[in-house]
Amino acid sequence: MTSVLFSPLNLGPFALPNRIAVAPMCQYSADDGSATDWHLQQVMQYAMSGAGLVTLEATGIERRGRISHGCLGIYSDANEAALARVLAAARKVAIPGTRFGIQLAHAGRKASTQRPWEGGGGPLGINEDPWQTVAPSAVPFTPAHNVPTALDEDGLTRIRLAFVRAAQRCVRLGFDVVELHSTHGYLIDEFLSPHANVRTDQYGGGLENRMRFPLSVAKAVRAALPAHIVLGARTTGTDWTPGGFSQDDGAIYAQALKGLGVAYVSISTGGILPKQPIPTGPGYQVPPAAHIKAKTGMVTAAAGYIAAPEQAEEIVASGKADMVELARAFLDNPRWVWHAADRLGATIVYPPQFQRAAAALWPGAKLSRPLDFPNT
Ligand SMILES: Cc1cc2nc3c(=O)[nH]c(=O)nc-3n(C[C@H](O)[C@H](O)[C@H](O)COP(=O)(O)O)c2cc1C
Repeated sequence: MTSVLFSPLNLGPFALPNRIAVAPMCQYSADDGSATDWHLQQVMQYAMSGAGLVTLEATGIERRGRISHGCLGIYSDANEAALARVLAAARKVAIPGTRFGIQLAHAGRKASTQRPWEGGGGPLGINEDPWQTVAPSAVPFTPAHNVPTALDEDGLTRIRLAFVRAAQRCVRLGFDVVELHSTHGYLIDEFLSPHANVRTDQYGGGLENRMRFPLSVAKAVRAALPAHIVLGARTTGTDWTPGGFSQDDGAIYAQALKGLGVAYVSISTGGILPKQPIPTGPGYQVPPAAHIKAKTGMVTAAAGYIAAPEQAEEIVASGKADMVELARAFLDNPRWVWHAADRLGATIVYPPQFQRAAAALWPGAKLSRPLDFPNT
């Protein structure tokens, strides 16, 4: 059997060696936005994972755009230098062909919150150095959250410019992919959502108006990137709420992004309201991804409860999505790809230093490399 999961995926200026991506995952371990040794080890592990694309976590384009005090940022020279160190080290150990992306983000009204393991991720208290949040409208995420300042035209220009400056830093850093975080109820998604955006100007009202600011950001970021850097977007397939952002809205928005030169969409769902009935389970976000792929013809990634190699293979082989993004499976096991390759009969390259670990890790597995090493 030839694995589709382990076949290349063309993103325009380059192809990924396979259709497996490490999904962006906040580590809440940065120091005023700057990557630390934690990121160094984390990204180096994923560089050796064999995933075709490794996308770094939601990275704040301005200080107040971070979710928490521990979130990664790309708003200062110190942030840029810290990321350069991480990326240089990761590239040194990366499996050939691995591409690196970064998710540019602004947390909007969901900023200024605790790290998940410190107080449960709620809004920062008065003694926790909270900050004033910004959003399309002065509508808080929950009654306990900071009431955000509604952005005026100057504020929108400032944020768009901050996205552009962040993109320019990404160019200097040599990222292959820049991904716009446009889901999970953060700033861009807030503009798209009638739940968070109650503006009466040209940025609020019907979907066309609600898309205006997000699309202006995408256009400005694309213009700041040279052609060899791929721009993608993580977008909402559905927010699972009545009267909210639907699958069809997701397809219309993706189509508009495509028109601006966005090369792929990674489909996620939910997050705009604190409580929605989300039917989580294996592959639960694949149907919205398949819908948007069918409507737009875009390169589309599916994510969410994908953990079994055969499940991942089925998603791409059936054409429901072009790529799978895994988060918790990689947290659990950064060598997920090696196991998947053995299960699916694909041959992959991995660092020879790990070859002797194979037999112990996968008793009875079909190894893609022989174990005829001297017993040193
Ligand atoms: C620790 C952690 C951090 C996350 N951080 C981000 C993030 O920075 N950006 C994002 O778009 N999604 C983030 N997510 C969501 C994941 O990328 C992914 O879409 C979600 O966990 C579902 O995939 P999974 O079932 O493979 O974990 C995060 C998930 C986890 C578990």
